[in-house]
Amino acid sequence: MATNISFILNGDEISYEVKDHWTLSHLLREEMGLIGTKEGCGNGECGACTVIVDKLAVNSCLYLAIEVEGKIVETIEGLASTSGALHPIQQSFVKNGGIQCGFCSPGMIMSSKALLDKNPDANHEEIKHALAGNICRCTGYVQILESVEAVKNMGGQNE
Ligand code: FES
Ligand code: FES
Repeated sequence: MATNISFILNGDEISYEVKDHWTLSHLLREEMGLIGTKEGCGNGECGACTVIVDKLAVNSCLYLAIEVEGKIVETIEGLASTSGALHPIQQSFVKNGGIQCGFCSPGMIMSSKALLDKNPDANHEEIKHALAGNICRCTGYVQILESVEAVKNMGGQNE
């Protein structure tokens, strides 16, 4: 069965006919071609597929696409400005070595954004907690945490 849903994706109004069994990661990657969102485990264990739905970081591999009806969805593709300037969180990951192979990076960055949008002064423990569901196979956790902490000193991370 298919259902027509409407939602906001990275600031744009979207209307899309989705199969009821599709996950949000399937809709984004396979149907809409937004492959910035990665899929690793496909069962909620690695966080690679993290996107933001109504300000909350969610595992898009477990989230049914039909459930975004009427909601606001943010993916890694929506972070850079229209002029192409990277979002401060992305800049910080690049500058502080928070990216190695990059497979986990979109999920790490979206989890970080959900946290810092809500709590721009998040402390080390709060950052660790927010990223607890995101796994990095390159084991770059120290640099990843440093990258998120450094955003606090850059200012304007919501811009
Ligand atoms: S791909 Fe969704 S949590 Fe691993
Ligand atoms: S940078 Fe390679 S998985 Fe994290």
